[in-house]
Amino acid sequence: MKFFIDTANLDQIAQAQAMGILDGVTTNPSLMAKEGITGHDNILEHYRKICRLVPGGAISAEVLATDYSHMVSEGRELAGLDPQIVVKVPISEDGLRAIKTFHDEGIQTNCTLVFSAAQALLAAKAGARYVSPFLGRLDDIDSDGLELIRQIRQIFDNYAIETRILAASIRHVKHITGCALLGADVVTAPLSAIKGMLVHPLTENGLKKFVEDAAKMTK
Ligand code: G3P
Repeated sequence: MKFFIDTANLDQIAQAQAMGILDGVTTNPSLMAKEGITGHDNILEHYRKICRLVPGGAISAEVLATDYSHMVSEGRELAGLDPQIVVKVPISEDGLRAIKTFHDEGIQTNCTLVFSAAQALLAAKAGARYVSPFLGRLDDIDSDGLELIRQIRQIFDNYAIETRILAASIRHVKHITGCALLGADVVTAPLSAIKGMLVHPLTENGLKKFVEDAAKMTK
């Protein structure tokens, strides 16, 4: 399973990269706005910086437009920034058309805001490289995010669909482990959830004891 970090924060991206586990980055307009990135040129420069921080990684950059022609022109510009860029497109009729156009042009896409297996199937059919089901937001409304991953995995396996399942809106470690058990291809998680995977009280207690005993050995 590949690990992406879900942030536009350069320091957090650098921290995850330094851990040696990072395969890519996902951003969205909300995450870019949170970092105070505004204006066309600044947005493009920020994506370039992210690409440089994660050499060879897949970097999702989302179109801001919602109509076909503007999504396509924006996506072409984003894809032209760096071969690492994956153009992120929301699921909609216009979004599907844009995904098909990008597919025909050899531009990789990540279809976002996916909340049902039916939406995922359409995105795959249009040629998306990744589909992004949002687990946490489903759980927030008392639905079952992991069940959606299970359904999409089964459908994609039924037809040998190569579109990658990129589990998004990850809130905690149990989401990540659940996605791994269900066969998601990628999870994109905040740094807090990635670092949370390291934590176990028995590891902390065990290390404390080792350090104490090591001090005795070097007396
Ligand atoms: O990148 C999209 C997705 O991961 C958003 O997550 O936390 O805003 O539901 P969240």
